[in-house]
Amino acid sequence: MIDLHCHYLPGIDDGAQTLSDSLDLARAAVDAGIHTAVMTPHVHPGRYENSAPTIRKLCAAFQRVLEHQEIPLQVRAGGEVRISSDIIAMVEHDQVPFIGELAGYRIMLLEFPHSHLLLGADKLIKWLLTRHIRPLIAHPERNKDVMRNVEKIAPFVQMGCLLQLTGASILGQFGKPAQQTALAIIERGWASVVATDAHNLRHRPPNLDLAYAALVEIGGESLARQLTDTTPGLVVSGGDAAVTPHGQPSAAAAQHP
Ligand SMILES: [Fe+2]
Repeated sequence: MIDLHCHYLPGIDDGAQTLSDSLDLARAAVDAGIHTAVMTPHVHPGRYENSAPTIRKLCAAFQRVLEHQEIPLQVRAGGEVRISSDIIAMVEHDQVPFIGELAGYRIMLLEFPHSHLLLGADKLIKWLLTRHIRPLIAHPERNKDVMRNVEKIAPFVQMGCLLQLTGASILGQFGKPAQQTALAIIERGWASVVATDAHNLRHRPPNLDLAYAALVEIGGESLARQLTDTTPGLVVSGGDAAVTPHGQPSAAAAQHP
């Protein structure tokens, strides 16, 4: 499986704090059946001052340590970008750490505040789409507005955003409302990817194997594979296939937007 969202790089956000934490997370990821993980530290001006060049450098150094330690995990550089008007300057100065590419669009893992869906977010997203940047919205099921009414995320899906659910939400580890919202998003066919958002072994481990098993129960093997392997694989390899929000290859999705 391929994990498109996790926080293993040491000491640059609220994930792994030391290299030993990073290696523990990497070993746990391999044990959970993950062979490739995109490092997505928070990119949040004023709070976590990370950008593409620094993340790339740290990620390459981490890969060398993994090889030295004989831990069979491929790591790629990415980032979890907090939504704000700062994104415009970051795009213009080539500072955004994209997590991959899909059907001619660079994919940005985009984080909303947990409390609400930001006013004006649609304008920023339209601006990104005109530049062939497609947001993959991180864990919408944990957003309070979306938990209150799942239809609140619909305009973003219609606009051409992809949605990433967090495995722990599906497993109920973020509470009932997040779990029910995750299931409602899957039911509507809006989920593109399931990832771990792993931060540490104790409270937020990389348990994609458990999420996979839950997805099999919910929608069968093919859904589980699409969300944890096929679509993430297309993103990291810069796949040509267009995908619908549910991760199914589709010619129609190429017309987005
Ligand atoms: Fe995250």
